[in-house]
Amino acid sequence: MIENIYKRRSVRTFKKTALKKKDLNTILQILKDTEPKEGPFKQRVKFFIIEDTFTTEEEKLKIGTYGFIKNPQGFIGGKIENTFENLIDFGYLFEEIILKLTDINIGTVWLGGTFKRKQFSHLIEKDEFIPAISPIGYINDKQSLRERLIRKKAKANQRKPFKELFFDQSTKMPLDKKHILSHLLELVQVAPSASNKQPWRITVDDQGVHFFLHRTKNYATILPYDIQALDIGIAIKHFEIGLIEEKIPFQMIQYNPPIIFNEDDYIISFRLERTTK
Ligand SMILES: Cc1cc2nc3c(=O)[nH]c(=O)nc-3n(C[C@H](O)[C@H](O)[C@H](O)COP(=O)(O)O)c2cc1C
Repeated sequence: MIENIYKRRSVRTFKKTALKKKDLNTILQILKDTEPKEGPFKQRVKFFIIEDTFTTEEEKLKIGTYGFIKNPQGFIGGKIENTFENLIDFGYLFEEIILKLTDINIGTVWLGGTFKRKQFSHLIEKDEFIPAISPIGYINDKQSLRERLIRKKAKANQRKPFKELFFDQSTKMPLDKKHILSHLLELVQVAPSASNKQPWRITVDDQGVHFFLHRTKNYATILPYDIQALDIGIAIKHFEIGLIEEKIPFQMIQYNPPIIFNEDDYIISFRLERTTK
C-alpha cells in the first residue's frame, strides 16, 4: 500500500474506454469489503457506485462537475451522518478505497466541493449525507488544459516542508528530519487534501504521535460540512498504513484531557512502543 500512496495523484481526465466487467467487479468488491470496516471513531460508511458516464452537456451541468472531469466512466461515493467524527472516519475509509483503486490503475479524484450534492439526493435517506465522491475510469495521461490549470492553482505537486507540519510536542520545535518516524510522517506529507491546504499537524513525544487539525481560516465556509475533517481521516489512514507495513505495533487512543498544541484541534494519537531513538 505504501507504493500506492506515492503512486496516487488526482485524475480529472479519463480515457473514453468503458470500464471492463472484470474491473467493475473488483471495484464493487472493494466497496463491499470496506463497508463493514470502522474508522478510528468506530463509524462505518455506506458506499455506492453510479455506473453513469454523464456524457451530455446537460447531464454534466446537472452533476456540477462542470466538464472539468473529462470522460468519467462512473462515480463512487459514500454516505454518513454529517458529524465531525463521522467525517474523519469517512476520510479514513474512502482513502483506503482510493488507494486500492490506485493499485489496480483506476484513476480517482476526491471531490468534496465541486459537485452538486442534490443530484445524488435520491440515494440518501433522512440524516444521511454525502461528503465526497470520486469519478472512476482509466487514466488518460494527457491532462486537459483545464486540469493542468486546476493543478497549477492548487499547487498540486507541492507540499509544505516537513518543518511546518511535524513538531516535537515538548519543545514545540520542528521535528528533526532524521527522527526515526520521519519516513512514516512523509506518508502524511504526500497525502491529498482539499485545495491542497494540508491542514494536518503532528507532534511526537513519549506518549505517542498526536494528530491535530490546523484549520485554514475562512476556508470553505459555504460548504454544508467540515471538509477539513476528511483531510485528517486521510492523514490517519496514511500513517497507519506505514505502521502496519513496517509491523510496528500501535494503539489508537484519544487522550483526555486533550493534548495541547498551539490553537490546533486535537484529534487522536497513536501510542507506539518507541517514539524516540
Ligand atoms: C477532501 C478533499 C476534497 C477535494 N475536493 C476537490 C474538489 O471538489 N474538486 C477538485 O477538483 N479537487 C478536489 N480535491 C483534490 C485536491 O485538490 C488534490 O488532492 C490536491 O490538490 C493535491 O493534488 P494531488 O491529489 O494530485 O496530490 C479534494 C481533495 C480532498 C482530499
